[in-house]
Amino acid sequence: MRSSVVQRTDDTVEVRHVSRVFGKPGASQTQALSNVSLTVPARQFLSIIGPSGCGKSTMFNIIAGLDAPDSGDVLLGDRSILGQQGNVGYLLQKDLLLPWRSILDNVIIGLEISGVPKKEARQIAVPLLKTYGLGGFMHHHPDQLSGGMRQRAALLRTVLFNKDVILLDEPFGKLDAQTRTDMQEWLLDLWDVFQKTVIFVTHDIDEAIYLSDRVIVMSPRPGRIVADITIDMPRPRSPELVTDPEFITIKRRIRHLLDAARISEKASA
Ligand SMILES: Nc1ncnc2c1ncn2[C@@H]1O[C@H](COP(=O)(O)OP(=O)(O)OP(=O)(O)O)[C@@H](O)[C@H]1O
Ligand SMILES: [Mg+2]
Repeated sequence: MRSSVVQRTDDTVEVRHVSRVFGKPGASQTQALSNVSLTVPARQFLSIIGPSGCGKSTMFNIIAGLDAPDSGDVLLGDRSILGQQGNVGYLLQKDLLLPWRSILDNVIIGLEISGVPKKEARQIAVPLLKTYGLGGFMHHHPDQLSGGMRQRAALLRTVLFNKDVILLDEPFGKLDAQTRTDMQEWLLDLWDVFQKTVIFVTHDIDEAIYLSDRVIVMSPRPGRIVADITIDMPRPRSPELVTDPEFITIKRRIRHLLDAARISEKASA
């Protein structure tokens, strides 16, 4: 079992007192995040769950350097990565494969960006596509694949970006239940093989608990962290875990936290 002790290494991600307000002062403003702090040790699988609009994607954009907070910092190890891109792999919520590229050439984009020649990048990607069930489809274009296959290709692309930390924003949100279960197993396998830190956004409580070492629960906007729950259940896990009494207790707790946060938001509206 992985240790839940936080040990700072060069790959530790730290979000430090991050706040983000959209809009100009005087005009209508939206506070997306309020003083969010979070430390994610190397190789942890952390899920973030929270209501729609609470700032989850905003936080990912800030960690990935695509957006800047109004205050606060983001560190990788001891180094601030605020406003810098290319330090983490990122599967955006609306991530699309490029329709004009084959699956193989979509999957190698990260390698190409980091300067690996195309031929070499393809040589790295082909065995992985074969291992992960896309071997027969690598020369197809995205519109010729099922949703689950496209999602697998997008995940492989993120993993091949060759960064120690990957951010996955609701990667399985649009998949049917069976495909989703298959994808969860697939992701856990990738996580184990590639030894990455995964920060994973989902709206699905079962998915968050089943996959993770730790689950962060956020309040409605402006997003704050309302709970930080260690999931100390042994791995490898099997899908029957969802009926385990400990699993059900954690699930109730998260459900309760999300409901309580929503009710207090309504009361203050
Ligand atoms: N570029 C932007 N300009 C203005 N407002 C924005 C911008 N990006 C996000 N917001 C607002 O910030 C809030 C948080 O948005 P965000 O996309 O981070 O939420 P989320 O938690 O990812 O939601 P969901 O679960 O629906 O994906 C929302 O009210 C959104 O409308
Ligand atoms: Mg989002």
